[in-house]
Amino acid sequence: MAWTVKPSATMEIPRRSEPYVTDEMKRDWTERILPRYETRLGALMPILHATQHAWGWITPQAMEEIAAFLEIDPSQVLDTATFYEEFHTHPVGKHVIAICQSIACEACGHQAILDHVRGRLGIDPHETTTDGKFTLMALECLGACDTAPCALVDDDRHDDLTIAAIDQVIDRLST
Ligand code: FES
Repeated sequence: MAWTVKPSATMEIPRRSEPYVTDEMKRDWTERILPRYETRLGALMPILHATQHAWGWITPQAMEEIAAFLEIDPSQVLDTATFYEEFHTHPVGKHVIAICQSIACEACGHQAILDHVRGRLGIDPHETTTDGKFTLMALECLGACDTAPCALVDDDRHDDLTIAAIDQVIDRLST
């Protein structure tokens, strides 16, 4: 869980003329996502996932467009998107390496892995390499405590993680 201080009153929203929520996305969400939920608000999480999948992160303009589509307040979208660490509200690198830092992973040596990745990539958690290839994150429990330590790399979970294993992943993604 991430606590984010939101400068809502003074925040300037960068805008572009083309929408992030395209007509095609709206059609898809209307056919595929909305029917699964009793209320439009209920569809917010999968729609945030779909938006992030489409653009790599969820821009403030996209949040407003999602709110308009779902007929909810933009603040509800912002609150949800900033509550869950899996949603990126800032641009991220091509690949996101997210290492679990909760109790089971902590007990099983997550710190050594995190320190190794920090050193190898030259960035701290929530930073992106200058070539835009990797963003490093330290997340709370991924729900795989029995295979700690673990990490999410893009959409794939890596269990029983070791320094050698994360090195192999970074090698593969670096080429
Ligand atoms: S503590 Fe890391 S997956 Fe649960």
